[in-house]
Amino acid sequence: MAIQWFPGHMNSTKKAIVDRLPDIDVVIELLDARLPGSSANPLLAELTAGKPALKLLNKQDLADAELTALWLAHYQAQPGTNALALDASETAPARQLIPACRALAPLRGGMVKPLRVLICGIPNVGKSTLINTLAGQRAALTGDEPGITKLEQKIVLANDFYLFDTPGMLWPRITVEHSGYHLAASGGIGRNAYDEHEVALALLASVRPRYAERLQARYALGELSTLSDEELLADIGRKRGGLMAGGRVNLQKAAELAINDFRSGAWGRITLETPDEFSTWWAAGQALDAERQARRERRQRSRGRQLPTGHGDSG
Ligand code: G4P
Repeated sequence: MAIQWFPGHMNSTKKAIVDRLPDIDVVIELLDARLPGSSANPLLAELTAGKPALKLLNKQDLADAELTALWLAHYQAQPGTNALALDASETAPARQLIPACRALAPLRGGMVKPLRVLICGIPNVGKSTLINTLAGQRAALTGDEPGITKLEQKIVLANDFYLFDTPGMLWPRITVEHSGYHLAASGGIGRNAYDEHEVALALLASVRPRYAERLQARYALGELSTLSDEELLADIGRKRGGLMAGGRVNLQKAAELAINDFRSGAWGRITLETPDEFSTWWAAGQALDAERQARRERRQRSRGRQLPTGHGDSG
């Protein structure tokens, strides 16, 4: 999918992260539990490689509990990494991140060596909600302290536990096609950056293999297996008053309805990807990227050969 987006303040956020990292003991990445792989920022992985990591699978109330357990096990099997699932508005699960971070950096703690934690995530993943939940009682927000840039905020969760917040950050180019669709469907990408019809079709394609009965129940549909994604979307539109004059289905309206129903949890708790699926897509995306890069280099080399002899001589 061609996603037309400007990753916003990516460069300044990236710089703020790079500048802060030497003083950071643990990096928290907030992920969307419905699309953990797709909501993980590959640029962040590159920047923070080797740091103890805590993956927080947020919006678990909207995700499939069985698949959330698979994702947690997947992250917990990685070195120096732990993972928790939570609903950012609930205090008790949110505060579990404190002992989880302490366990990842056991040599830090106490007034002399306070634990310094960086929290990152894509836009709309629930970071503000989580910080508000955590800041509810003990935490103090300090925006104007020397050494704290405007782009980050230091939140004191305990006398010896500092959380550094960063603005939501996307990355410049999505190499995994499914990820683009999943991010768009979940609301991680601004709505002007994608085509809703295309996203709704991809969303239905991802959802129907695991959750066909949910769609049948929600829209009072019959057997789905004989329908193409396009026909399924049209049926959803037909059932939900998306008809135009002459009886034609308003596919744009049907697409918006399907995406909104997914986002609001009207289809029940749904996860769009498993760790195995994501790693297959990731490998395919990397291979495509490598091919693209090789083509670009071949073009550059052949352009170089076509240049007239003596090109570049200053004379
Ligand atoms: P951000 O700072 O990372 O950009 O995200 P923010 O906290 O603003 O959250 C984005 C949206 O996700 C908000 O909904 C918020 O309520 C919702 N959200 C955050 N955490 C959770 C969670 O654990 N479960 C569920 N179900 N929703 C969550 P919104 O519709 O954009 O705003 P509002 O209507 O809630 O104000």
